[in-house]
This record gives sequence, C-alpha cells and structure tokens, in this order.
Amino acid sequence: MDSRRPLIAGNWKMHKTGKQAVDSIRQLKDLTSSVTDVEIMVAPPFTALSQISAELGAGGNIALGAQNMHWESEGAFTGEISANMLKSAGCRYVILGHSERRQFFGETDQTVNKKIKAALSAGLAPVLCVGETEKQRNENKTFNILDKQIKIGLENFVLNALQSLVVAYEPVWAIGTGKTATTDQAQEVHNYLRKWFAKEYGTEFSQKLRILYGGSVKPANIKDLMAMPDIDGALVGGASLDPNSLSQLVHYKS
Ligand code: 13P
Repeated sequence: MDSRRPLIAGNWKMHKTGKQAVDSIRQLKDLTSSVTDVEIMVAPPFTALSQISAELGAGGNIALGAQNMHWESEGAFTGEISANMLKSAGCRYVILGHSERRQFFGETDQTVNKKIKAALSAGLAPVLCVGETEKQRNENKTFNILDKQIKIGLENFVLNALQSLVVAYEPVWAIGTGKTATTDQAQEVHNYLRKWFAKEYGTEFSQKLRILYGGSVKPANIKDLMAMPDIDGALVGGASLDPNSLSQLVHYKS
C-alpha cells in the first residue's frame, strides 16, 4: 500500500480525442516533471489509453487510470472492456462506481463489487467512488448511503486483497456544479470513512488507506481541502482537463 502519498487524479470523463489527450499529457509531463512527493493519475477515455501509455513510458510520476470496466474477463459483452485489457493498455488504476455510472448507466453496489474483484485479480488498483445526493444529504441519510455503498461494494473481500484500494468521496451534489463541500463537511465524511475501515479492517489498514475528495475541486480550493487530516488527494473532473490547471492542482503546496 502506498502509505497515503497524496494522489491527484484527473478524470477526463468523455473528453478529448487521442491526439488531444496526448497533447495534454505532453504539457502535463513538462509542467510536473520535478514533482516527486505527489502521485498524479490521469483517466482518459478508453480510446486514448494506449497512446497515452506509450507517451508516458515507464517509471514516470504520472500513472494511467481507466474510468470503468466490465467484471468478466472476456466474452460476448458488446461495448465492454475487461480488466486485463486495461492492464495491458498500461493502466495502474481503474475508477469504479462513479456516480455518473450509477446515475446514467445502472451501476449498482453489486456490480461495483464484482468489478472491484475483477480489477484486483488483474492487478489494477480500484478507486471506489462513493457519495450521497443532495436529497439524501438533506434527509440526513449521508452516512447510511455511504455505509451501504462501501459495505456492499467491498463485501467478501479479505484485508490482504485490498492493499491497493483507493476510496474517493464524491458528493453527487458537488460534481460539476461548482458547489464544493466545505472543508469541514468533507473532513467529517472522510473521517467517518476512515473509522469505518478501522472497524472493519483494523487501524493499520485504515491509517494507510488513501481517501480522495472529488466534486468541483479547483486550484482555488485544493490547498484548504488537502490541509484536512483525512483528505489524501483529489479526484478532479472539469479542472483536470486543462494541463495548466491540473498542474496547479498537483502543485497545491506552493
Ligand atoms: P468535477 O471536478 O467536474 O466536479 O467532477 C468531479 C468528478 O466527478 C471526478 O470524478
């Protein structure tokens, strides 16, 4: 496990052609070449993975991630991509259970569970996304929803299997809306999640687990978020598309 080295991850969602993605990565590489204390991850669309992987080469400080995958290893699943395909395209991470997958593509906690299992067996590090909607928060159901998402999402996993796990708390109401959770709101949830993991998997594991915050993270708010004791990084959509802005996020300390 990567002992809570800060991780700044860009989720490019359905943006950028292969060429645009490679151009962005070239700029990002130049802008972040001296960074060693922060891990950078970029999750482009599937079509750009191989090109970016070739561009990144081996041993750099930028890791490649995918935005989704299927839980089966191969077969008649038109339009789907397997964990092994992602691994061989150069991915180290895969984002699973993103709220947009849950909201628009019928992802459930059960399918997330199967995907995490498949990702781990292929040697990919899963980034498990959890988060409540605005309605759920207003009804004081935030912690119930998170409990369900992590409990079912991680059902039947033993501690040893989960060493590469990363968790991302992304309140649905803060994604792409410009509304960021306050640092206190985010810290409260991150601390809750860390305690949940301590109870379920022990303190040693929970103290090493990286929990990222996502939802309208920008260069203007990242420093305050990263100052919170249980926030170990960010999963960023909109502000990760421009390499200059992503580089500013990576340089959040300066
Ligand atoms: P925004 O940063 O655009 O709010 O998106 C967050 C997100 O969904 C990252 O996965």
